[in-house]
Amino acid sequence: MMAVYPRFWKPVRPECDFILVSVDESQYLGVMPSIKSLFVTRLYHAKLSAFGDPVDADELEASCYSIAEDDEAGQAWCEKEGYPGYTSYASLTDLPWRFPVFQQIKDSLDLHVAAFAEELAFDLGGGELVLEDLWINILPEGGTHSSHLHPHSVISGTTYVAMPDGASALKLEDPRSARMMAAPPRRKDAPEELQTFVYVKPQVGDVLLWESWLRHEVPMNMAEEERISVSFNYKWE
Ligand SMILES: [Fe+2]
Repeated sequence: MMAVYPRFWKPVRPECDFILVSVDESQYLGVMPSIKSLFVTRLYHAKLSAFGDPVDADELEASCYSIAEDDEAGQAWCEKEGYPGYTSYASLTDLPWRFPVFQQIKDSLDLHVAAFAEELAFDLGGGELVLEDLWINILPEGGTHSSHLHPHSVISGTTYVAMPDGASALKLEDPRSARMMAAPPRRKDAPEELQTFVYVKPQVGDVLLWESWLRHEVPMNMAEEERISVSFNYKWE
């Protein structure tokens, strides 16, 4: 069946049922195509100190090293699992209770996560988002943390303790990539919101939050010094 176009519409190709309007004509006539973003992925980026008492960066870094040195169970786990550097993830589940500086971080994070939940328009139904895990990561030169997500949680994130020159950014992946079967790649100059991978380079004292289903990784740390961060999960209860 022959398509019939209004006077100011032009088919992209004569045989094509999809139509476009010329920009000049459409602006003049007020009929620009309407394109909106749906199913948006939010990334929250703030200074940890924006809420709560400021955390002393040097004290925090010293605490991370001191805990890592004392945590023999954690060291053994990292060695057994081939984890580069150190993480307290599998060995210490109560950092805020043991160390005041981590309690301070928790108090700030609670407020950041509440602000992010508001931005996400979550209906928590009388429940709340509560800290489930909080752990230290010390990544040496050449260390990576491969692509993963954080199951059983709602909001995950990281605050950054040491980011020497050359320390890896955080690499985030479009959550729809598994469905993109035959889609072409995006151009390098595509807007950030259309890119399949986005790299975020936080600074010391920053906090990043994302929904826990968002796949992410830490590419190889090219800095000679260690990259130190504190990551966490919040659950809904
Ligand atoms: Fe992670």
